[in-house]
Amino acid sequence: MNVKLIQLQKHGDDRGSLIALEDQKNVPFTIRRVYYLFNTKDDVRRGCHAHKNLTQLIIAVRGSCRFLLDDGKEKITLTLDNPAQGLIVESMMWREMYDFSEDCVLLVLADAHYEEEDYLRSYDEFVKNAAK
Ligand code: TYD
Repeated sequence: MNVKLIQLQKHGDDRGSLIALEDQKNVPFTIRRVYYLFNTKDDVRRGCHAHKNLTQLIIAVRGSCRFLLDDGKEKITLTLDNPAQGLIVESMMWREMYDFSEDCVLLVLADAHYEEEDYLRSYDEFVKNAAK
């Protein structure tokens, strides 16, 4: 499986760091929604779903968490812990997030508004759809 990690340019000086996100530039889609996960307990798994038609860019702007990505054939795990690194999660990709650090803030940019009908929340249903 090809994991798409984007390196984000850091504009830093002695005052600190800044990263800008611009759609169709360093973000490879039109941004229609932004949300962030924070105060996540370290013993919970979040995500545990796939999307039928949604692309997201996910950045650990603070702290860290582990990611499981599963395209229905192959699974990979990785750690997100770098605010200058964005993970592209495309449609039909099962994802689970776990081992959140206490300070973890996960920023998510998405190419569509929230739509519950776009979710596949059953793993079995996801695998059946992925095999089509
Ligand atoms: P959920 O998708 O379960 O979070 P995760 O999969 O990341 O663990 O979403 C939690 C709740 O927030 C759920 O009631 C739906 C709501 N929600 C929105 O209203 N808008 C959104 O953009 C998202 C992502 C979730």
